[in-house]
Amino acid sequence: MAVGNRIGVILGSIREGRVNDRVAAWVIDQLSDHGFETRVIDPADPALLPVQIGDTEATTRLRKRMEGLDGFVIVTPEYNHAAPGQLKTLIDAVISEWWARPVGLISYGGISGGLRAIESLRIVLAEVHTVTLRDTVSFASPWRKFDEAGHILDANEAAAAEAAMAIFAHRLKWWADALAEARQARPYTPEAG
Ligand SMILES: Cc1cc2nc3c(=O)[nH]c(=O)nc-3n(C[C@H](O)[C@H](O)[C@H](O)COP(=O)(O)O)c2cc1C
Repeated sequence: MAVGNRIGVILGSIREGRVNDRVAAWVIDQLSDHGFETRVIDPADPALLPVQIGDTEATTRLRKRMEGLDGFVIVTPEYNHAAPGQLKTLIDAVISEWWARPVGLISYGGISGGLRAIESLRIVLAEVHTVTLRDTVSFASPWRKFDEAGHILDANEAAAAEAAMAIFAHRLKWWADALAEARQARPYTPEAG
């Protein structure tokens, strides 16, 4: 049974030379090892970048990219104790695509591992009717930990991150299945009438 296993992996950074690609590559590998199908949603993708200025065609492309997914995993850095503005704009650009979906949060940054970015996102993601996973995975100074292909260099750190990811993936699957079944059983919004 593969009910809720289609996951959109959303990147938080659009910065040139971003570390985001390395961390996201690791996350995608891990999700795949745990049986998920992934689809990357990258705000820096030229097809999606104009979402930042409210371009309707780009927003339609974003909707299509989010269509049919059972949940999302956001992989984001922390900028000034919050998530990057472009990630917030991408979240704000659509609405029903978020409804009744689980969102897992993976962060990175300096010594805090980007945890404040995660907490800043929970408020926003509640407003768009998602369920955020309590469990997170975070990385302090990932620029020292990951190679360009997204492998964690130190074996002990890799094992610790994989253990955290195993719990994260289990809970993501739990929520993705539960909400996929609930959405099939009845519409999330009340019938007009
Ligand atoms: C504008 C800006 C603000 C930042 N603020 C924080 C911060 O508040 N806390 C933190 O841990 N790191 C902070 N950093 C460091 C970033 O987490 C780090 O540069 C990270 O690599 C950025 O992700 P990216 O390379 O994928 O864009 C900041 C970086 C930038 C560019």
